[in-house]
Amino acid sequence: MTEAILLVGGKGTRLRPLTVRTPKPMVPAAGVPFLTHQLARAREAGVEHIVLATSYLAEVFEPYFGDGSALGLELEYVTEREPLGTGGAIRNVASRLRSGPGDPVLIFNGDILTGLDIRALVGTHTRSGADISLHLTRVEDPRAYGLVPTDANGRVTAFLEKPQTPEEIVTDQINAGAYVFRRSVIDAIPEGRPVSVERETFPDLLAAGAHLQGMVDSTYWLDLGTPHAFVRGSADLVLGRAPSPAVPGRCGEHLILPTASVAPDAKLSAGTVIGPGAVIGPGARLTATAVLPDAVIEPGALITHSLIGAKARVGARTILANAVIGDGATIGADNELRDGIRIWCDLVLPPATIRFSPDE
Ligand code: GTP
Repeated sequence: MTEAILLVGGKGTRLRPLTVRTPKPMVPAAGVPFLTHQLARAREAGVEHIVLATSYLAEVFEPYFGDGSALGLELEYVTEREPLGTGGAIRNVASRLRSGPGDPVLIFNGDILTGLDIRALVGTHTRSGADISLHLTRVEDPRAYGLVPTDANGRVTAFLEKPQTPEEIVTDQINAGAYVFRRSVIDAIPEGRPVSVERETFPDLLAAGAHLQGMVDSTYWLDLGTPHAFVRGSADLVLGRAPSPAVPGRCGEHLILPTASVAPDAKLSAGTVIGPGAVIGPGARLTATAVLPDAVIEPGALITHSLIGAKARVGARTILANAVIGDGATIGADNELRDGIRIWCDLVLPPATIRFSPDE
């Protein structure tokens, strides 16, 4: 049986302030910590043993997931003393692996939401006899990603990190953050120092003549590293566009977790999720928005494509669009916050003195 390593130790700087108190994989998406979706998908694909490589805010994972038996998994946790980067983190958990030297080991970035056919990736790896196999996906604008061109047989020919000029954009295939490594390749990563698998391990192995195989799978794929993407991913899970066996309820326009309280005339749409203990006041309208546990949305608030942190409060008639409200923050009544604005945890914004009309 294939085992897996999940990389969950990153600082998640792009997702601040939601990652100030919570590591990115533990931020709720569609009502449960995002990591739950990845664990459940791996289990569905037949993975039984998973080692979590933790670093930033490492202490929160085990109390929540325990030994993994609730998900039908056997989970282990390994914490780095200093962050070791993606490659260093993989090497650091090698002693917990049970696979033999020639066996395949799955590795997942902890912030990717995807419908990848995990079994097919392992199948490609086994059939091709590769040292490492990589899930590749196609994107329209590859400039923010690592490009991975392949030959006619799917063998990787280069790794090009974040290309800028048109000449450098030789393919639309990017590294999608899921790999199969032959176990012996993991053991050969240098030990005890930071290593980037993307910038060091992959290019070095390629230069040394190793066989790296790409598998293009263009089903649902989203890197949840930014607030905009996180909100979209959560909404897609609620709507059923992104596949996960761990969505805690029926997929549809909205998902209301038990113990949340929603006024009968509040309107929730486009994949909005209301976390446990949250309160949504009369006349509030929420579109494609994630409301985390115990947050309060006061009457008449209009919120779209936003993330409302745990225990945050949004005042009456306030308008939010593409906003992130940190845990415990308070936005007074009648404010209007738009276009990527981020409000830090516990910040208190007083009510606006001049009222906006939503039509202005
Ligand atoms: P940003 O700071 O916003 O870039 O996010 P990040 O820290 O998560 O970095 P990135 O998205 O590049 O990381 C890719 C994956 O590797 C994520 O799942 C991270 O949790 C994980 N990761 C990154 N660095 C480390 C590390 O030093 N140790 C461990 N264990 N995991 C890491």
